[in-house]
Amino acid sequence: VTVYVPRDSAALSVGADLVAAELELAAARAGRSVRVVRNGSRGMLWLEPLVEVATERGRVGYGPVPPERVGELVAAGLFDGADHELCQGVVEELPWLRDQTRLCFTRVGVTDPLSPEDYLAHGGLAGLRRALALPPAEVVAQVTESGLRGRGGAGFPAGIKWKTVADTPGALKFVCCNADEGDSGTFADRMLMEGDPFILIEGMTIAAYAVGASEGYIYIRSEYPDAVRTMRQAITVARAQGWLGEDVLGSGLGFDLHVRVGAGAYICGEETAMLESLEGKRGMVRAKPPIPAITGLFGKPTVVNNVLTLASVPAILADGAAAYQALGVERSRGTQVFQLAGNIARGGVFETAFGMTLGDLIHNYGGGTRSGRPVRAVQVGGPLGAYLPADGLDVPMEYEAFASAGAMLGHGGIVVFDDTVDMAAMARFAMEFCAEESCGKCTPCRVGAVRGVETIDKIVAGQDPDDNLALLGDLCELMTEGSLCAMGGLTPMPVRSALLHFPDDFTAREKKR
Ligand code: NAI
Ligand code: SF4
Repeated sequence: VTVYVPRDSAALSVGADLVAAELELAAARAGRSVRVVRNGSRGMLWLEPLVEVATERGRVGYGPVPPERVGELVAAGLFDGADHELCQGVVEELPWLRDQTRLCFTRVGVTDPLSPEDYLAHGGLAGLRRALALPPAEVVAQVTESGLRGRGGAGFPAGIKWKTVADTPGALKFVCCNADEGDSGTFADRMLMEGDPFILIEGMTIAAYAVGASEGYIYIRSEYPDAVRTMRQAITVARAQGWLGEDVLGSGLGFDLHVRVGAGAYICGEETAMLESLEGKRGMVRAKPPIPAITGLFGKPTVVNNVLTLASVPAILADGAAAYQALGVERSRGTQVFQLAGNIARGGVFETAFGMTLGDLIHNYGGGTRSGRPVRAVQVGGPLGAYLPADGLDVPMEYEAFASAGAMLGHGGIVVFDDTVDMAAMARFAMEFCAEESCGKCTPCRVGAVRGVETIDKIVAGQDPDDNLALLGDLCELMTEGSLCAMGGLTPMPVRSALLHFPDDFTAREKKR
């Protein structure tokens, strides 16, 4: 019997290691031959630890399984896929999984993340093999034609970025993966690195071949120790398999990869601050231009892409640009891995083609709030993203529709709040976060954020609210227009959206709370 218990940190945080150990013990006691595979998470976080048993019907899931209930489950016939109140049925038939289009996450939760055999058996390396059979310029063209845009948040066309690097002369070029994932409500990069690290290695190797790079770095935030460990182990395995190194898959391509760990600064997710940090310096933002594609790591032409951008590339090469382009809507093509978090009944990752509405994701898949109270506000795109009101959730999940709604899709993180939220406090938090995380290089952000906190405090306290509201408006405009990077430039977005949609929360006299 093969039993699967996730090794993803979300599952570990609710006792998955103990569950795996208890299952081994119970199997030994029952005299059953059981192989426990540590897979990635299926992304249905409310069911973790989700134990799956391979049966003739498919993989039958049980969850959430606390370690102390393993004995009871085994006695009830878990190893045979028997029914039980925790039994969820055949996992892949659950609507949450059935309704997804998984390209990046196709193997996450299915395979043993560190097994090269599993990777190959589930379609791994098809993209890289196809890429290596094409001229590098054709690989860039495929990525451009696919319509893939940067998944880190800005949505810049990946193929154009790659072409800039490819066309810039240089004996030494780099591919850097931004795995700093600092946005609130986002965890897809982490789950991918823990659940299918080889797909990221494959995507980065394709990028290296396409642009002529010989070395790559994955910059992972220190808060992700399990992802760091898994990525490092995967790189070692990939080298031993000949998937990395001086002669990748016998193609003559020389490419190697290294993991670097950040020290916990949000700003190191900004690409130039990340490059500074990779060079061993303090993470300060560089002025652009020059762009990293031309003058990047150690001054060399550098591809900087998010984890999900690079993980989308193998499928594009394997199945062709047209198949990828066929998914999605308008200028948002392919799939995005949305992350449901905050006050939500069913949180987790949901990979789907662009175009599903935010309300559909939250209500039909997420099941509304965890508290059972009405949804009041939803923040999409991290701490710099706008708050949308409950009656504004019919917006389709795609870059331009969000921009038209005065919001941004960002890295696909969705944080839900119920009707107990104080939106003035959330606006204050945006300014406070900026003041805390500002790199300090430019005045609108460094000083503006501190003034922003003070001004919101005055408004809420009822001190000259009209004057201070006007001042806050001016300050938001100055930060938006005058900041060097998105940190200061986008902080006004949550503040303005809170003011626009929830003005009553700012008016002390009318405050109920
Ligand atoms: P940006 O619009 O300045 O740049 C986007 C990318 O395109 C950059 O890599 C830039 O170097 C590249 N680029 C621009 N012109 C180019 C050209 N002609 N050729 C080649 N490459 C070119 O946006 P930025 O500042 O990099 O990112 C801001 C976004 O980051 C925000 O929208 C936010 O959503 C997101 N963000 C994501 C976080 C996360 O945890 N994933 C955290 C914080 C912010
Ligand atoms: Fe640094 Fe803020 Fe200026 Fe960005 S906007 S460069 S984080 S001070």
